[in-house]
Amino acid sequence: MASASSHDLLRPVVLGSFIVMCVLGTFWMYYTPTANRSYPCPGVLSDGNQTQPAPNQTPKTHDQHDRFQTEDGVKEAETIVLIWMWPFGVPFDLNSCASFSIKGCLLTANRSLYNKANVVMFHHRNIASDLSDMPKEPRPWFQKWVWYNMESPTYTQRIPGLDHLFNVTASYRLSSDVYVPYGSLVEVTSDDKSFELPKKDKLVCWVVSHWNPNHKRVPIYNELNKHVKIDAFGRHFEKYIEDKAQIVSSCKFYLAFENSIHQDYITEKLYETLHSGSVPVVLGPPRQNYEAVVPKDSFIHVDDFPSLKELADWLIFLEKNETQYLKYFS
Ligand SMILES: *[C@@H]1O[C@H](CO)[C@@H](O)[C@H](O)[C@H]1NC(C)=O
Ligand SMILES: *[C@@H]1O[C@H](CO)[C@@H](O)[C@H](O)[C@H]1NC(C)=O
Ligand SMILES: *[C@@H]1O[C@H](CO)[C@@H](O)[C@H](O)[C@H]1NC(C)=O
Ligand SMILES: *[C@@H]1O[C@H](CO)[C@@H](O)[C@H](O)[C@H]1NC(C)=O
Repeated sequence: MASASSHDLLRPVVLGSFIVMCVLGTFWMYYTPTANRSYPCPGVLSDGNQTQPAPNQTPKTHDQHDRFQTEDGVKEAETIVLIWMWPFGVPFDLNSCASFSIKGCLLTANRSLYNKANVVMFHHRNIASDLSDMPKEPRPWFQKWVWYNMESPTYTQRIPGLDHLFNVTASYRLSSDVYVPYGSLVEVTSDDKSFELPKKDKLVCWVVSHWNPNHKRVPIYNELNKHVKIDAFGRHFEKYIEDKAQIVSSCKFYLAFENSIHQDYITEKLYETLHSGSVPVVLGPPRQNYEAVVPKDSFIHVDDFPSLKELADWLIFLEKNETQYLKYFS
């Protein structure tokens, strides 16, 4: 990277939110420097206090327990996490936890394990509005129900009857019991140090899948586009793309504009841009909110400028000044 600074050790990676479903609370591993350590299922949901243990805390290990296989494939001393409904109806690999070296957890979508499950996850968007798909059997005394939601309040429908039903919240909100970010930064490995900035042939790009003139981002795009050329893609522009990451990589700046503006609502748009080696121009919650999750000099906030003309001028300046541009990657 261009200059030496403490950020040289950090590189963003994108984590699909499904990974986080693996084990609620595994997020504390993201910042743990040592790789290849194995973690037991964090006691997350049993003590109600799973938020960030000290990074150097040595997790208790289950290895000393003799675990044996029972007829239904459930091992003794295993925490059973039951996915009651697939988020957005899309199944994911239930073995994906293995890649995180998480032990002591069984992730399953088999509803017949309901009576044994320690944790049952419900994805808000997939809860039928008449609650007809919720469990019919009584809840075992030890079982915790998790309300999981990754949509902003604008896109979260209120479903009557959900109050006082859940024990744990899991969402992108920093204040949720289990914080499930759309992505996070991890420490670089020696392989990553050879990271080179992708070649750029475009200045500002935007890929929009959900064009809605009522979104604040639409008038902002329209105004910004008067002052700087924006390569825009998506159905609205009749410019379809196959590989979004490749497009983003080829642009110096990418408009990481959220569809709605809410506290902590910072989505994959930010993380994917960083991951692709482009500089995000963000529209969303205030700058301080972003600074809580990524380095303050790795992005441009629309609110950093008194006008969109001045934002455009800055981008145009950076187009010519590589030294200044590279500072976003240091
Ligand atoms: C959670 O942990 C914090 C810090 O360790 C502690 O002060 C607090 O009392 C704990 N809360 C519960 C409910 O255990
Ligand atoms: C679900 O679990 C039950 C009880 O353990 C088992 O009999 C059944 O085969 C499982 N179903 C699937 C699809 O794995
Ligand atoms: C979970 O919440 C329900 C509803 O508030 C409550 O009845 C139940 O005792 C709680 N379960 C646990 C394990 O805390
Ligand atoms: C480019 O930016 C650097 C600071 O990063 C500055 O010192 C230099 O004067 C700028 N060059 C031009 C041509 O503006």
